[in-house]
Amino acid sequence: MNLQDFAKLLRARWLTVCITIVVVALGAVAYTLFTTPLYQASTRLYVSAAGGSTVSEMYQGNRLSQERVLSYSELLMGETLAKRTIDKLGLDISAESLQGNVKASTKPDTVLIDLNVVDESPVRARDIANALSDEFVVMVRELETPEDGSRPEARVVVEQRASIPDSPVIPKTSRNIGAGLALGLLAGIALAVLRDLLDNTVKDRQTVEEITGAGLVGSIPLDKECRKEPAIPFDGNNSAIAEAFRKLRTNLQFLAVDNPPRVIVITSSTPNEGKSTTAINIALALAEAEHNVLLVDGDMRRPILHKYLDLVGPVGFSTVLSGRASLGEALQKTRFPGLTVLAAGTVPPNPSELLGSLTAKNLLSELRAKFDFVVMDSSPLLAVTDAAILAAAADGVLMMARFGQTKREQLTHAVGNLEDVGASVLGAVFTMTPAHGNSSYYYSYYGEDSARRSSRQALSADPAAPSPQPPSTDVP
Ligand SMILES: Nc1ncnc2c1ncn2[C@@H]1O[C@H](COP(=O)(O)OP(=O)(O)OP(=O)(O)O)[C@@H](O)[C@H]1O
Ligand SMILES: [Mg+2]
Repeated sequence: MNLQDFAKLLRARWLTVCITIVVVALGAVAYTLFTTPLYQASTRLYVSAAGGSTVSEMYQGNRLSQERVLSYSELLMGETLAKRTIDKLGLDISAESLQGNVKASTKPDTVLIDLNVVDESPVRARDIANALSDEFVVMVRELETPEDGSRPEARVVVEQRASIPDSPVIPKTSRNIGAGLALGLLAGIALAVLRDLLDNTVKDRQTVEEITGAGLVGSIPLDKECRKEPAIPFDGNNSAIAEAFRKLRTNLQFLAVDNPPRVIVITSSTPNEGKSTTAINIALALAEAEHNVLLVDGDMRRPILHKYLDLVGPVGFSTVLSGRASLGEALQKTRFPGLTVLAAGTVPPNPSELLGSLTAKNLLSELRAKFDFVVMDSSPLLAVTDAAILAAAADGVLMMARFGQTKREQLTHAVGNLEDVGASVLGAVFTMTPAHGNSSYYYSYYGEDSARRSSRQALSADPAAPSPQPPSTDVP
């Protein structure tokens, strides 16, 4: 994956990245709000050693002070001084916890010690810092005074006393939120990459072509209008979905040029992948190109075409096959010029048997003779054998795969079911591809070569298209 692919991946999964950033940043805000504020009070101590009157004695005294500074800072953070300070202030804390709040630091080549004390109360922080410093002055005097009671060899002076701190040093609000945002960004990117690696749905041309062993001949965008009105009015309609069906129609005409398929089964691996909607609109797109088209509802278990097209349901395919109606009685003209429909008929107890019968084969031959194209909707391949049986009797299958939903294994399994009955897959169609945004990522990320290949294969002109098309590929 190069940098460009990475940028496209992030664009495709921007929502994951944004949500992670917001969640982690909110976590940082909550952490900041729930952290007990700590105040810091500071004093500065000056260490001096008894020097002499000559320059060398003064130099020696200064060296002595610098050497002592390190030991003094250890004593400042030590247990003895902590206990003495607790006794002096009458505090109700252990020496150990006070030690944890005291930090003494020195600067190299100086005789200064900075003492910092943190506490939940600003006043107490100041009191402890001052008391600790005062006690230390006394302690050093005791330690440095020789046994004979002569002058101490070194002494400490509180050069700067502590005052009440105005604002807490903890929590560090801006640092926490900044860290939260940075961490959120990193976690979001990691999550986006991980989700991409774990995603086993079909989203790219190369995968779909490898699994089906056929080219991707169409890509139907998600269109909310389609949910309300599945039959797209093609007349003068240049919407993205109408154009997608026109491209699919064109690509269909270029499949198996020597023996163009005319009886086509529309199927998919699982339910709700857009088979029926696509079947209707492929039929309408073919009818728009002045072909005489029959749309057959071959899904006898969940017949839907009559509902999508406001037609009569109970008389249709199953009724003709069982001999209870003639073909002429069952065929229904629609409000769309050139489109005739054979509904599913009453739901039979044995759809697979009916579809696999010799009568069904003969009926399909009769329909082939009567119409330019017979488009057959069917049931999902992984649910029942009906679609595979229909496919075996037809010229071929258009395999629908719902973009980002159909899993690779499902598609593989479904194609296997078709291979078992010797049915040929004419082409694959992506359904409900996102109208904007991330679909292009997958096409270009994985399938550039293939896209170019198909682009060469695809037509240069479609006589039925309402407006001149650029050399058409089968992707949006
Ligand atoms: N291109 C599209 N844009 C938006 N919604 C769509 C599109 N295609 C199909 N749908 C919606 O998806 C749902 C399933 O569609 P459809 O009935 O065509 O699927 P199906 O594969 O035939 O389902 P089943 O397996 O039950 O027969 C319907 O609500 C339909 O309106
Ligand atoms: Mg259906």
